[in-house]
Amino acid sequence: MTDANRKSPAAAPGKTAAESAVTMTHQVLPHDANPAGNVHGGVILKHIDTAAGVVAMRHVRGWAVTASIDRMDFLKPVFVGELVIIKASLNLVGRTSMEIGVRVEAENLLTGEVRHTNSAYLTFVALDDHGSPRPAPPLVIEGEVAERRYRQAQRRRELRRMAIAEERNG
Ligand SMILES: CC(C)(COP(=O)(O)OP(=O)(O)OC[C@H]1O[C@@H](n2cnc3c(N)ncnc32)[C@H](O)[C@@H]1OP(=O)(O)O)[C@@H](O)C(=O)NCCC(=O)NCCS
Repeated sequence: MTDANRKSPAAAPGKTAAESAVTMTHQVLPHDANPAGNVHGGVILKHIDTAAGVVAMRHVRGWAVTASIDRMDFLKPVFVGELVIIKASLNLVGRTSMEIGVRVEAENLLTGEVRHTNSAYLTFVALDDHGSPRPAPPLVIEGEVAERRYRQAQRRRELRRMAIAEERNG
């Protein structure tokens, strides 16, 4: 576990994922969808980016920008009239970057049926007043779920770094 992800809140000033986690909802209207009533993927992506941005800003209490969004699959369609539920929380904090996991569900308001439609992982970077990366507060890892999410996020971070390095080196 890195310095920025200590287990004990007493070991370093830090914040838990629960302190910045958000659940945002949005009722789908006709202008969000294609003529068949399916919500555009870009609309869902915007909600995901917005929710993750709120988490990042809550954690750093300052500006943060999207550095990357990992592969995203649309598992189930979302239809006009349904409620989109976006749950976002921190998985890992590096030095200046943060991985945020987002789960999207669609609720049929007439039947109460809830479907898992997307999951995504985004990396945000905390910025100072000059627009340069600045250190983010450590993430306090509490409980089994947070430990598992942290471990999985570490693997993805490594894969991302390797992909970026490969691209840069041609
Ligand atoms: C994101 C950004 C600030 C990174 O700046 P940079 O000069 O490359 O910063 P660094 O190389 O010092 O990296 C800073 C951190 O970002 C991470 N990072 C940089 N590029 C990344 C990427 N593509 N994916 C994931 N993480 C990335 C680094 O690993 C590093 O993490 P760490 O501090 O936790 O170790 C810069 O590329 C930028 O401003 N991009 C545009 C952002 C934007 O406009 N987003 C859309 C609107 S919000």
